[in-house]
Amino acid sequence: MSKRFYITTAIDYVNGQPHLGHAYEKIIADVIARARRSLGQETFFLTGLDEHGQKVQQAAQAEKKNPQEYCDALAADWQAFAKKLELTNDDFVRTTQPRHKEFVQATLTKLNAAGHFYKASYTGFYSAREETFLTEKDRLPDGKFDASYGDVVELKEDNYYFKLGAHQQWLIDYIEANPDFISPSYRRNEVLGFLKNNTLEDLCITRPITRLNWGIPLPFDPEFVTYVWFDALVNYASIAAAHPSLELWPADIHVIGKDIVKFHAVYWPVMLKAMGLPLPKQILVHGWWQKDGAKISKSTGNVIDPIAVINEWGLDAFRFYVLRELDIGPDGNWTDASFRSRYQAELANGLGNLVNRSLSMLKRYRNGVVPAKSNELATDAAKAADETRALFKQSQLQSALQSIWGLVNRANKYVDETAPFKLAKDPAQAQRLDEVLYNLAEACRVLAVLLWPFLPGTATKIYAQLGLPGSPDKLEAATWGGLPSGHTIGEPAPLFPRKDV
Ligand code: MSP
Repeated sequence: MSKRFYITTAIDYVNGQPHLGHAYEKIIADVIARARRSLGQETFFLTGLDEHGQKVQQAAQAEKKNPQEYCDALAADWQAFAKKLELTNDDFVRTTQPRHKEFVQATLTKLNAAGHFYKASYTGFYSAREETFLTEKDRLPDGKFDASYGDVVELKEDNYYFKLGAHQQWLIDYIEANPDFISPSYRRNEVLGFLKNNTLEDLCITRPITRLNWGIPLPFDPEFVTYVWFDALVNYASIAAAHPSLELWPADIHVIGKDIVKFHAVYWPVMLKAMGLPLPKQILVHGWWQKDGAKISKSTGNVIDPIAVINEWGLDAFRFYVLRELDIGPDGNWTDASFRSRYQAELANGLGNLVNRSLSMLKRYRNGVVPAKSNELATDAAKAADETRALFKQSQLQSALQSIWGLVNRANKYVDETAPFKLAKDPAQAQRLDEVLYNLAEACRVLAVLLWPFLPGTATKIYAQLGLPGSPDKLEAATWGGLPSGHTIGEPAPLFPRKDV
């Protein structure tokens, strides 16, 4: 049994419908998973839902539902969303599943027995409205707490704490010795800066059931439930353990957003160390999307509904835009104008036009029969394939798309330079026309192979239009010359219909 490439997303709170940010993270992970499979690696891709805790309990209460029923109803929408994005996830975790809860409880029992926890009481200022303890930082300049917190009362509360202090230096050393552990490097530097300039406070891992009961019961004290982040982080390991016939752990990549780096790069490594498990190989941190330069927010109506975009423009246009527009790391800004302009320029006029005119000419001038092999674009295709292969291994998705479009643009230019429509009028140029048509058809085939992880539907359509069976899902097929002469192609059809806007 060999270790699988194991990639995860953050698990989303089920307190509403999925939005652009959730879709983006899932598409990143899906493209990396598909790219690894295309490279020939056995891969396991996990996504799912974070169902416990105060946020979910409050959302359920607002709809006067019990939390489990509330989660069950929404989980169906989120699973349908994963299908809509054509995610190739191998499992879908819900933290209310027994397989997960039992693993969390076993972990807690083990860590407690090994002396990692202690019980202590904490006195602080508590906002019942926000259901949270406030700190000195939350005070206004006049020393009071903002009216939005409602009544703030001093409260004494017992809880269990996880000793983190002893791990601080070890974690700093680990991050310094493993430069790829947190990517991009500026996120790594932020974590190192935080760890070097602060003393880690012990992590409160429980909530008293008098205050919050929607959580995993603490196995050694019935007065408490497990803090939602302790529960949620463990999903990556609990689901790995739920597939004992596969070698999954350690995870190769946890894809997460920039707001939850501390949980993944500080708490999770310490938890794993205590659990006696190796650390994930990489925490890959993406930025946040805004829309029209402002925060995405349901309350102001500044939102993008991914499902509406997909229904109007097609899934592959959506997958393409989010990965082409924004590299993994910085923040991005969605505007409808830039979405349309990329659709028009890169998909409709770029890739779509190339495939459509190449295959239509082959159909018209050669009855759809592939001529003898020719290698004029072979070097350009090999360059794109080599670059894409290397970039896939580094999860550099935006750069891979740029490299692939290098080939799209080169092939479109080749059409303009060789002018096959003119060659077709001159019987003396028949052999030259054969060469041009072979190069174009074969470039389209190579593009389908390179594009498959990003645009699986489009890549499969290009294969079908070339009269080739199945999906171009193995990168080794990108080798030049795969299209046999004498083969008859299928029916050309536009891949990205032009839209008048
Ligand atoms: N439940 C926790 C994660 C637990 S992981 C063990 C959580 N859930 S969340 O639903 O709030 O966020 C899920 C993911 O979506 C996070 O990685 C977060 O960064 C990402 N995004 C939420 N809004 C986003 C944008 N506007 N843009 C990009 N990603 C964003 O946190």
